[in-house]
Amino acid sequence: MRISIIGTGYVGLSTGIGFAYKKNTVTCVDVDKEKVKKIKSGVSPVYEPGLQEGLKRFLGKSFDVTLDLERAVKESEISFICVPTPSLPDGKIDLGFLKQASKDLGKVLREKDYHVVVVKSTVVPGTTENLVVPVLEKESGKKAGKGFGVCMNPEFLREGSALKDFLNPDRVVIGEYDKRSGDFLEKLYKNFKTQILRTSIKSAELIKYASNSFLAMKISFANEIGNFCKKLGIDVYEVMKGVGMDFRISPKFLNAGIGFGGSCFPKDVKALVYRIKEEGLKPALLESVLKLNEEQPMKIIEILKKRIRNLKGKNICVLGVAFKPDTDDIREAPSIKIVKRLLKEKANVIVYDPKAMENFRRLFPRIEYSDSARKALNGADACLILTEWNEFKNLNKKDFSSMRRKIIIEGRKILNIKEKEGVCW
Ligand code: UGA
Repeated sequence: MRISIIGTGYVGLSTGIGFAYKKNTVTCVDVDKEKVKKIKSGVSPVYEPGLQEGLKRFLGKSFDVTLDLERAVKESEISFICVPTPSLPDGKIDLGFLKQASKDLGKVLREKDYHVVVVKSTVVPGTTENLVVPVLEKESGKKAGKGFGVCMNPEFLREGSALKDFLNPDRVVIGEYDKRSGDFLEKLYKNFKTQILRTSIKSAELIKYASNSFLAMKISFANEIGNFCKKLGIDVYEVMKGVGMDFRISPKFLNAGIGFGGSCFPKDVKALVYRIKEEGLKPALLESVLKLNEEQPMKIIEILKKRIRNLKGKNICVLGVAFKPDTDDIREAPSIKIVKRLLKEKANVIVYDPKAMENFRRLFPRIEYSDSARKALNGADACLILTEWNEFKNLNKKDFSSMRRKIIIEGRKILNIKEKEGVCW
């Protein structure tokens, strides 16, 4: 099929390259000139395994990128909206980009034969039917379900393995405005070996929020039990191993630590909480998930301060600032709160991260950055591990020997040395 994709964030780009791998012709569209220029030159604007190789393979052949939305949509049969839906300060979802994309798309639909518009952006239930469809109908002068089709097709891609997740999904959810729209989109997924669930548009929208909220809840649960474990001198990983062996629970997303970050969980749980409250309900469970997560990063500071009471002038080495490994993304990363607190306590912060230092430097231009973990450890009074990068796994006793004091605290469980202490283990 000929596909256009609006938005070249990690979802849009992974979806685009993924569909190219599945033998489709894809044009990605973005309003950001610099980004388009970068992709056109074969460079992925985000660090995401496989995207660079995919670009090399398909760019100029079955994959293209442009600023020209009209051309991209005109030359395709189906368009995916993959624009960001960030949180406003009160947690409410910001639908500005989605509205604009719908307007631009709607105008092109005016002169087009049947075309299907698919919302992939994460949106609260009702958004596609109450915002996207009316805007498309107004701008195109056509009726949804007749002149054009509409689907909501949530993404379940994890950063750091987005392309892999796209190509090997454990389910594809197709929320359909009408049967014809759903049939059209299902054709596109026919060569994916997975289960396809066809639902109403609103259910598809909520499946995404409920899935992310459930996973976030598992993490906050593991952290709550983990904080208790710490008091009792128990390793929460041993406990969760036993808990996760129950097939009804599963061992996934039970890793305790300094809390969840990223551009999805915090934003999506907040948006769901906000929307539930709008209905006059009290989302008590989800509010607790968020509260626990707000406080969790400070656990590592509490432990550090038990070992070094006054942090002023102390060299604190921070290994890993990305919100998770295999990404350069620092959005909502626990490292931000932790480094802010260290700076408030007037510590000297020395950071090393394999991929995320450039992004971190924009937020914290005045702290010290090191080009290797070993160098960052040199002369440190304490070391905090905030991201479980694989390369930290191999750090051994000798690597830590250049520290001034051997205080090694893990916010994520990764090291194989005895001298460390964990936040919940
Ligand atoms: C998450 C979901 O996992 C995806 O299914 C979803 O598509 C995506 O959000 C999205 O909405 O677009 P992502 O944010 O990329 O993906 O990363 P995760 O692997 O889910 O990790 C999120 C955060 O939770 C990270 O900070 C990670 O360190 C933390 N985490 C994860 C834990 O603290 N413990 C765990 O056991 C697992």
